[in-house]
Formats: sequence, structure tokens, C-alpha cells
Amino acid sequence: MLRAFIFDLDGVLTDTAEYHYRAWKRVADEAGLPFTRDDNEHLRGVSRRESLLLILKGRPYPEEKIQAMMARKNNYYLEFIKEISPRDLLPGAQELLEELRANDYKTALGSASKNARDVVERLGIDSLLDAISDGYSVERQKPAPDLFLHAAAQLGLPPKACVVVEDAAAGIQAAKAGGFRSIGLGPRERVGGADMTLLNLVGVHLADLLKALHENHPG
Ligand code: BG6
Ligand code: MG
Repeated sequence: MLRAFIFDLDGVLTDTAEYHYRAWKRVADEAGLPFTRDDNEHLRGVSRRESLLLILKGRPYPEEKIQAMMARKNNYYLEFIKEISPRDLLPGAQELLEELRANDYKTALGSASKNARDVVERLGIDSLLDAISDGYSVERQKPAPDLFLHAAAQLGLPPKACVVVEDAAAGIQAAKAGGFRSIGLGPRERVGGADMTLLNLVGVHLADLLKALHENHPG
């Protein structure tokens, strides 16, 4: 039986996926590297280092330069998130978190970002999450299942009792690899591997999710 929902952050609860893109775009432009929004789709959910390696597409760069580019990207990203406030929660996110908790479901964050705690605090949703697993929690990031397994362990629940909510192909892969059910947010080309897909969380209620996942409603 389902007992918990594990949410990705960037692109699920708030639109920081756009800020990650803009920060990388600036780094890529400065280095004269081609990088488009389409390229960026493959970076969703992927760690900072792996993201840069995808942008570099095998071009040989010394480690020193890689470190400097990662640091620059993060500085640009930090500038973007400075202004984040509860108004930046994506439509439907807070309502769903509140409904889940009112129905005794546990909620956790499973984000590869090292800035996740900061963003959660700025969004004002710390009190709506029972556990946070972030870019510091595990070594192997998505598409490895480790981060979601870490979140489930913090909740004291097995993967089969948790459903992962993700906007990234790498995140859906991670959920599947860990034995979690999953809800994909976004186009099917990206998250079609999930157990159910939605364009966003607007007007989404617990009962709809349970029905699509073939679960019984607790009430
Ligand atoms: C994920 C984002 O949540 O976190 C990725 O989807 C990002 O775009 C990754 O690269 C790591 O984030 P950070 O903040 O540690 O660089
Ligand atoms: Mg995401």
C-alpha cells in the first residue's frame, strides 16, 4: 500500500529547472560551447558535474577548468535563487503537499541539488516535508536509485510504499531502478516511462493519483 510521495524539486515543486538552464547557458556561451534548450532536456535531474560533462560532449578539458566552470555555474545559479519566495511554488504543488499530509501520507524531497535545502527554505515548504534527501545525501546520483532509496529509508518505508514525482527522464529511470512507482511531469517523450504522466500539478488531487496508480483511497 502507498504510504508516501517523494518529490523531486527542480521542475516539479518550483521552476528552478529554468535557472539551472540559464546558468549553464551563460557558462557555455562564455566558453564558446554550443548549448541549446533541447540539449538542456538531457541535463534535467543530472548532477552538476555530469551536466557539465554532457555540455562538453567529450571535449577534453583539464580538471581545473572543469572545477572553475562548475563554480561559475553555481554562482550564477545562486544569483537566480536569491529572489525565490513562496510565490515561486509551481501551481498545485502546495495544495497537493497539504492534501497528502492531511490524509496521513508522508512526503519527502529527493533532489540531486546541493542547493535544495536553501530553495526549500525560500519556498517556505520545510514544514510540509518529512524528510529531505539532496545532492549531499548520496554519491551516485540519478539515474541511480540511491537518492530515492535514501529518502525512503529516512521515512522508514520500503520503495513499494512510495511514489516518486519527477520531471526528468533520469529521475524516472532512478525510480524504476529502485522499485518505486512514478509520476512523470512533462511531455511523454521525456517522462513517458513513468507509471502515469501529467503535464503539471494544477488541480491534481490525491484521489486522481491513487486511481491512476490503481491504489485504494484511504478514506
Ligand atoms: C537537479 C537539477 O535537481 O540538481 C539539475 O535538475 C542540477 O539541473 C542538479 O544539475 C544539481 O544541482 P546543483 O544545485 O547541486 O548544481
Ligand atoms: Mg527535476
